[in-house]
Amino acid sequence: MAPAEDTSDRPDDADAARARWLHETLHRHAHQYYVLDDPLIPDAQYDQLFQELQAIEQRRPDLLRPDSPTQRVGGKPLAQFAPVRHAVPMLSIRTETDTLASGAEAFDARVRRELGLGPDAPAVDYVAEPKFDGLAMSLRYVDQVLVQAATRGDGETGEDVTQNIRTIGQIPLRLPPQAPALLEVRGEVYMRRDDFERLNAGQRDKIAAGAKGEKTFVNPRNAAAGAVRQLDPAIARQRPLSFFAYGLGEVTPPEQGGPAFSEHFAILQRLRAWGFPVSDLVEMARGAQALVDYHRRVGALRDSLGFDIDGVVYKVDRIALQQRLGFVSREPRWAVAHKYPAQEQVTTVLGIEVQVGRTGKLTPVAKLAPVFVGGVTVTNATLHNEDEARRKDVRVGDTVVVRRAGDVIPEVVSVMADKRVAGAPQFSMPRRCPVCGSEAVREEDEADYRCTGGLFCGAQRKQAILHFAQRRAVEIEGLGEKLVDQLVDGQLIRTLPDLYRLGLAALTGLDRMADKSARNLLDALERSKQTTLPRFLFGLGIRHVGEATAKELARHFGKLDAIMDATEEQYLEVDDVGPIVARSLHQFFAQPHNREVVEQLRACGVTWQEGEPAPRAVLPLSGKTFVVTGTLPSMGREQAKALIEAAGGKVAGSVSKKTDFLLAGAEAGSKLDKALALGVPVIDETRLQEMLDGGA
Ligand code: IVH
Repeated sequence: MAPAEDTSDRPDDADAARARWLHETLHRHAHQYYVLDDPLIPDAQYDQLFQELQAIEQRRPDLLRPDSPTQRVGGKPLAQFAPVRHAVPMLSIRTETDTLASGAEAFDARVRRELGLGPDAPAVDYVAEPKFDGLAMSLRYVDQVLVQAATRGDGETGEDVTQNIRTIGQIPLRLPPQAPALLEVRGEVYMRRDDFERLNAGQRDKIAAGAKGEKTFVNPRNAAAGAVRQLDPAIARQRPLSFFAYGLGEVTPPEQGGPAFSEHFAILQRLRAWGFPVSDLVEMARGAQALVDYHRRVGALRDSLGFDIDGVVYKVDRIALQQRLGFVSREPRWAVAHKYPAQEQVTTVLGIEVQVGRTGKLTPVAKLAPVFVGGVTVTNATLHNEDEARRKDVRVGDTVVVRRAGDVIPEVVSVMADKRVAGAPQFSMPRRCPVCGSEAVREEDEADYRCTGGLFCGAQRKQAILHFAQRRAVEIEGLGEKLVDQLVDGQLIRTLPDLYRLGLAALTGLDRMADKSARNLLDALERSKQTTLPRFLFGLGIRHVGEATAKELARHFGKLDAIMDATEEQYLEVDDVGPIVARSLHQFFAQPHNREVVEQLRACGVTWQEGEPAPRAVLPLSGKTFVVTGTLPSMGREQAKALIEAAGGKVAGSVSKKTDFLLAGAEAGSKLDKALALGVPVIDETRLQEMLDGGA
């Protein structure tokens, strides 16, 4: 075998060049992150570069320099904060690079090997904790009084941020007398997600109002770091921070009357007793399988927690074992951080497309160079709407941070403005629907543009057909989603009237469509032609026109032509029709395609009984809202509903402050409780009859 080539005396080999580049890059990003609180790359990318350097240094110890970024944990203390020398260094934890459950097994195996435990030796007890995504803090109490709070800094020397930390309500300023005379508590300062959202909303308002020097924060950790290292404590106070304790620093030794702990879990319980917040998610775990389970369970909870975590931490519980295990270069062998897949990554924007949703909503979507984030490969990220796209100012060619948390759709979090290609134009929403070319409009007070193409627009067609066919509309039995997909995708139908032009031959050619089911569908289509004006109107799927509004419109105008030709003012005369509904009706019928669809449906034989206009009749129950519950003595609930509506009343599904009466029969349940709680009058069937007969 050829001897391994010795390259250590060749300063210009590939490893050395790469290591030099990594040094420089990591130093620059560490400064951005720790000193300026303004990271240019997401943590995951930083970690990746950091781990790459660690790997090179492990492989090539000759390249390990004392000033390597791997040899110190954080950035330099800012000149403005007084430096604090940590009596007990603030360590970092080794990160298990395997984000799969097997990472937990690898840690347990290592601990057992290092402790010399054979396969038959009992399982090791661990404490499993969330890995909070904030910043490490050391709180020093002398004679039970908080005297100093310090950041980690480089692990040896941090910064004195006592003034700012005192503003955190969760941190006790004074401890009970049982606490030792000297106590340093180590833990994480973080910002809750809801506090972060509120803070950023406030920042956006300030920016919108023209405030100079204000910015929004990229994520809660970034916001927390900014607040802690804010030189003006008055500003720091306005930034809501929280704290979790997870360990100890310097403590009065047992010989001098201090506490003697033999387990880490006992330390956490004692900290809790002394008034420190300790996460409820902290648990004892015996052996590797318990760690694997914990990793999985907390991973499933991750997105629903009130705060960000980027992994979990496992710690050997017994202090005596921790001491036996000791440290390797500032990292304890008795603890490990087991991360989850990163939820943020950097990629580039290849284009911005506008997609048309099933209801006509236009959504700008960034097309991305494929990137693995949150456990999947992402190629699209929503920009939500015009305002959001403008606010983030995403442009084609931009380098962006993408976030995908849990099952939430991927989002562009921020743009790395310094990497913008010169001359990239600002995004603006098209004024026409990209699918059908109809006008796209944005209503006042609304964030979204919508295609006005309605039934004419291909993107809205399937949804429109399903809406028309549903039971509450014209009811075409058997016409479900799968069938509509086939009919539309196979170009057998484009518009609603095409439904009524389907023939047996076309249908039997479809997937899983036997002769019998084809005939059934044709029968159902035939039956659906006999309908009512409210059902037909509702079935057209006009925005904001639900069943109740359709009924009101039909009652008020009597005839479809009158409805189609009414002005916005005339719509407003209808009970319960406000400006938004009136505008929507007007827009719908102003589109020639929509009128055409209506005409063709009529031509295909869809009919209903037209009535006489009944403008604003004063019926006995006009303006009253009812909720019906329980078993009524002589009528079904549907019948009661029909009677109430015929008398001008409305029937709602749930009880609220707006409910005028609850009609309750036998075995009424939660609706009755709610009505009683809200003071909504409860009536029985007899009383309803009296009201229908005109009794007050
Ligand atoms: S223990 C010797 N426990 O992770 C172990 N650290 O590199 C010292 N962190 O920035 C740390 N959650 O602030 C520990 N439950 C937890 C933690 C935790 C988050 C942070 C810590 C430090 C980093 C460790």
